[in-house]
Amino acid sequence: MKPSEDASCPGRRSFCCLACAAVALALLPSALEAGAAPESDPRRVTGATRASFTPGTIQDYRKPDGFFLIADAAGIYAVSAICTHLGCKVALADNQGFDCPCHDSEYDLQGNVLQGPAKLPLKHFSVAEREPGGPLVVDLSRTVDAHVRL
Ligand code: FES
Repeated sequence: MKPSEDASCPGRRSFCCLACAAVALALLPSALEAGAAPESDPRRVTGATRASFTPGTIQDYRKPDGFFLIADAAGIYAVSAICTHLGCKVALADNQGFDCPCHDSEYDLQGNVLQGPAKLPLKHFSVAEREPGGPLVVDLSRTVDAHVRL
């Protein structure tokens, strides 16, 4: 852009700056909602509580966080939805396990590989209550053994 073009329209740049600032201010309240974690925080507060999670319950948190929250007879666990082959998101298959749409790997509900090409099981993440009886919190920065349950 030529300097003379800037000078011919001095108000356009100011208008763009004001418009961008207005959009940023409009988005700020949703980012600061009570209980919302900053994007850099690896902990995800779910809508589930321990009491609401009876064995057989499965909740899908693939979007945007990439995990499933599951209860079996031993307790509650969070399993990654990221295929260990090349990183596609797996899908729940008839509440019996997970299928990867990219190259057909299959996993059981605990994340064990039933069929390759994936060779490694799905990761498990730490699950805790935010406070006793409160919402379940999944920490995506803390992997745990597949047998760990809340
Ligand atoms: S990325 Fe899942 S099977 Fe290849």
